[in-house]
Amino acid sequence: MKGLVLAGGTASRLYPLTIVTNKHLLPIYDRPMIYYPLDTLAGMGIREVMVIVGGKSVGDVVELLGDGRHFGLDLTYRYQRGALGIAHAIGLARDFIGDEAFCVLLGDNILRGDPLADTARRFEEGAWGAGTLLYEVPDPERFGVAELDAQGAVIGFEEKPEQPKSNLIPIGVYFLRQDAFDVIDRLAPSGRGEFEITDVLNHYIGDGGLFAEVYTGSWADAGTVPSLLRAAELAEREDIEGTLPAPVARPMDPA
Ligand code: DAU
Repeated sequence: MKGLVLAGGTASRLYPLTIVTNKHLLPIYDRPMIYYPLDTLAGMGIREVMVIVGGKSVGDVVELLGDGRHFGLDLTYRYQRGALGIAHAIGLARDFIGDEAFCVLLGDNILRGDPLADTARRFEEGAWGAGTLLYEVPDPERFGVAELDAQGAVIGFEEKPEQPKSNLIPIGVYFLRQDAFDVIDRLAPSGRGEFEITDVLNHYIGDGGLFAEVYTGSWADAGTVPSLLRAAELAEREDIEGTLPAPVARPMDPA
């Protein structure tokens, strides 16, 4: 399985912290934000990862991560012009992904306590078209929100609804296959002008096409000032070394 980390976007909800820098470089406890999604992918046994970059300080993201060898990863980059949405960013990776199943991590999502290697394997070997993980939050209107039937099966996702139909949100972990790129090609932008990942997930609902289960570890996003603080508290509470080597100062290219 290949991996994709999305590190574009404008991060305007974090202004003034992100006026001159990329959100994914901000510190979460003892390391830059983007280390966390890379660590999550590494924990699944994924080695080949494309990082979608955009917005501010793209060169600094590349300088920080390099070719990934100091993490034991093989990193490639692609530039997203504008912030046209998560589905648009994923669409840029079509030729990198090829025919493999792949896992997308949002660059501002912090996961701790459940390494997901088994989940990735189950998806890869199963017949689902797409997958995501759900998490219960007190403020679902900030996110995508799942609607469930009486049996607890997901029957739809809405992006940032005023009246959320549940407290379960799809977190920024998506399992997809090659045909998702055709789904993305056919998407129309939402009312807020973005190509939405929830529209991609909705395409697969029904006939057992969508894998969706509740994440059993701890999760936080870091896209707003309060959630940035909560993410750091989570990282401190569950300060584990992770799969990647302990925080490194900065990659030094071998001579
Ligand atoms: O965190 C989980 C939520 O993430 C989901 O519940 C929502 O369904 C999903 O839409 C997303 O919502 P956010 O409003 O939090 O997404 P945000 O715009 O903050 O973008 C999330 C990450 O994706 C962020 O690290 C930057 C990256 N991104 C975003 C956009 C819009 C890109 O790389 N390119 C983009 O165009």
